[in-house]
Order: sequence, then structure tokens, then C-alpha cells
Amino acid sequence: MTKDLIITENPKSRFAESIKTIRTNLAFANVDSGLKVILNTSPEMGDGKSFISANLALAFAQDNKKVLLIDCDLRRGRQHKIFGVENSSKGGYANLILNFRSDTRLSAYIKRTAFKNLHVLPIGITPPNPVEILASNNNQLLLEKLKNIYDIIILDCPPVLGLSDTMILTKYSDANMVTVSIKKTKYEAIEQVKKEFAKAKAKITGVVVNKDRTKGKSYYGYGYYTEDNKKTKYKKEDIPTVDFEEEKIGNKKQNNVAVTSSVVSSIVKNSK
Ligand SMILES: Nc1ncnc2c1ncn2[C@@H]1O[C@H](COP(=O)(O)OP(=O)(O)OP(=O)(O)O)[C@@H](O)[C@H]1O
Ligand SMILES: [Mg+2]
Repeated sequence: MTKDLIITENPKSRFAESIKTIRTNLAFANVDSGLKVILNTSPEMGDGKSFISANLALAFAQDNKKVLLIDCDLRRGRQHKIFGVENSSKGGYANLILNFRSDTRLSAYIKRTAFKNLHVLPIGITPPNPVEILASNNNQLLLEKLKNIYDIIILDCPPVLGLSDTMILTKYSDANMVTVSIKKTKYEAIEQVKKEFAKAKAKITGVVVNKDRTKGKSYYGYGYYTEDNKKTKYKKEDIPTVDFEEEKIGNKKQNNVAVTSSVVSSIVKNSK
């Protein structure tokens, strides 16, 4: 397992609180339509999609939902590393799509994790044609079956720009999150993402502003501030935080960053 699972390592951190708020906000945003399949993407590589997806999956599992986290980045997914589960060229999402029949034994592909209520479907074989596989009728049948089994399904997707994989998956999602990196996402990239969603006739439910405060250093060496551990040498400022913005992206242009962070709880759609 990697050290990405902050919500369990530091349940009282501000980060954990923010992730739980995202969980709540997503439920509010989909109060009429129902929330089952949540897609998470970002403009470019390395914005923190997998990190956010993993922690959000845990947050739903902690809320007693039966959760499946699907690694949809068939090119370079890393959820198996985050959760320390096996990923073989014989058993994973790509293989399951290819082999899926109504009587397929799902447990040969879906992995249990160390956490209650949370299963992960790792990528499996790296196919030469991810777009065709994701767009296949078999994938549709598979996702329909999985929706009958799980309360929440999180699709950890590849980036939007330059790849059509994610837009194909919007056909199956109830909520679409766009993770942006406060450090590097440019306004123009967000505008482009908005255009891609509009082309696919898919709505952006909200934006997660990922504020990686590790200042270029790997956070693995840092550890995190915990409320319990007063002796910690880590400062509060070192803890990564996230905010969730209802469809505001592209409306503000500030320092070349897509959106400014704001108080998480005040931006739930229709909550006023
Ligand atoms: N808020 C954060 N605080 C600390 N580290 C972070 C944060 N967000 C992301 N990271 C780290 O940055 C790296 C890239 O994150 P991640 O793999 O989640 O991005 P991604 O958008 O899924 O990338 P890819 O497009 O390659 O799939 C990882 O090592 C992750 O642990
Ligand atoms: Mg990723």
C-alpha cells in the first residue's frame, strides 16, 4: 500500500474532513437523480485524481456504503498500488470487460481490500485499444451488473485532454467530478475540459481543488499532522487539502489557476 490513504491514517485531519464534505456534497447534488456512479477526472496527468478517488472511496465505505473503486485508467492506473492488491494480466477491469458474460465469476477480478465495504477493480491487462474496450457493449453490460451489486461505484479515470477514454465513461456516470491541481492547472486547460464535457453532453457536477502543499517534495517523507499526536513535528500547512466547487470552473481567472478555493460547505448545489 502507498501512503495515499490519508483519510484512514489521519481521520481527524482537515483533509479527511474535506473528503467527507465532498461525499456529502455529491449526495446533495444528486438528491433527485440518485447517486451511484461517480466519475473522477482531471485535465492532465498527475493532478491527483487517483489520490482523491481512493480517499473518497474510503469515505463512502466508512459511511457503510458498499463501494467499488474501478481503475479506469487502462493505460497507467495505480489503484492496485495504492491499496496493495494484486494486478495481474489475467485479472482486472480490462480482462473482465473482454471476458464478461452474465455468469462470469466477478470475484476472480474484483479484489477485496484491507478496508471494510471497499472493493477495487484494478486495471488488469494493458490493452492496445482502451477506447474500444471502454466503449464496448460488454462494458455497458458489466457496469449495469455492478450497479446492482454496489451502492457506490467510483470511476478513477484518465485525464480528459488528449484522450477520449473518460468522455466515453460519462455515459454511465451519475456525477462527474473534475479534480484540478491548484499548483499547475491552467485556466485554458479547464476551458478545454468544459468544452469536452459539453461535446459529450455531460454535466460537470463539481470541481475538486486539490491543494498539494508538499511544495514539490514527495509527501511520503513528511507524515501528517494529527490532532491526537501533539508531538508531531509536522505543521498544519503541510497537510494537503481539497475543496469542492460547484460548477464554477472557468468563471474565475486568477493567477492562471482555474478556481480559487473557498469554503467547502457553502457550495453545495441547491442547498440554499
Ligand atoms: N493533495 C496532495 N497531497 C500530497 N500528494 C498528492 C496530493 N495530490 C496528489 N498527490 C501525489 O501526486 C502524485 C500524482 O497523484 P495521482 O496519481 O493521484 O494523480 P493522477 O491525476 O491520478 O495522475 P495520472 O493522470 O497519472 O493518473 C501521487 O504521488 C500522489 O500521491
Ligand atoms: Mg491516476
